[in-house]
Amino acid sequence: MTALAMAAEFDDVAGWTADAVEQLGVQHAVPAACRGGASPAALAWLAEACELSPGIMLLDVGAGVGGPAAWAAERFGVRPILLEPMPAARRAAARLFGLPVVAADGRRIPLRTGSVDAAWCLGVLCTVQDKATVLGEIHRVLKPGASLGLLVVVARGPQVLQAPEGNHFPTERELTGLLADAGFEVLERADQPGRAPLSWSRRAEQVAAVVADRHRADPAYALAARQSERFAGLFAARHIAVRLIHAVSRPDIHPNHVWRRHERRARVPA
Ligand SMILES: C[S@@+](CC[C@H](N)C(=O)[O-])C[C@H]1O[C@@H](n2cnc3c(N)ncnc32)[C@H](O)[C@@H]1O
Repeated sequence: MTALAMAAEFDDVAGWTADAVEQLGVQHAVPAACRGGASPAALAWLAEACELSPGIMLLDVGAGVGGPAAWAAERFGVRPILLEPMPAARRAAARLFGLPVVAADGRRIPLRTGSVDAAWCLGVLCTVQDKATVLGEIHRVLKPGASLGLLVVVARGPQVLQAPEGNHFPTERELTGLLADAGFEVLERADQPGRAPLSWSRRAEQVAAVVADRHRADPAYALAARQSERFAGLFAARHIAVRLIHAVSRPDIHPNHVWRRHERRARVPA
């Protein structure tokens, strides 16, 4: 069930979204392809915090349909590389934005150690069980001192009931520990800074309406819709919240830091 729900949400709907954008027009592409909850204000916060600038390489881990990376390329002139495990999402990103997309899982990033100028990972960590490995891999491929921009859905309490299938929301405290263990220093955090303006949300809604009209009868649509409803319910009940984080890769931690730190800790006498 979990794998089916995730595939429905991140693969089937991704492909349908690209079809709908092609019908409605290119001005719908970025708003519809930001599927991790980032508003334009959130993207601007992350881009400014990470000091994105023309020509730098931005790795977007779990890039989905590519809206955030395309936005960063358009507004800040970065050279994005998308990493995404779901095939229909990769095809959608390539079709809509013509950006390079690597087929891979964030737990094993096929890029050289210390080769990336900056990384984003937006709306992804809560869908990943092994968050430590993903963060460790992002740390490995980043240049020492480079920026990581995160959008994370966090749990506001110790337990979140009725979570959407496959989602494991870290508490703020767990997230802080995971980032430190992976070799990151958190420089700044923010709440989601404001809702998207109507000009943006209306375009995303128009795309969603076309997808609904075409695919309402498809079981994958029903699964994805149920995931969205659960998310909306948890936000409304204030059981989960969005956090933006700017962290930097600490240069003093070796790429093999994850097991080395655990090993070191195990050696420390109680
Ligand atoms: C909520 S979507 C966000 C997509 C995109 N970051 C955005 O903001 O529009 C979560 C994405 O994470 C991807 N994902 C899930 N598990 C992953 C993993 N282990 N490694 C890399 N990406 C993963 C999914 O395929 C999906 O595209």
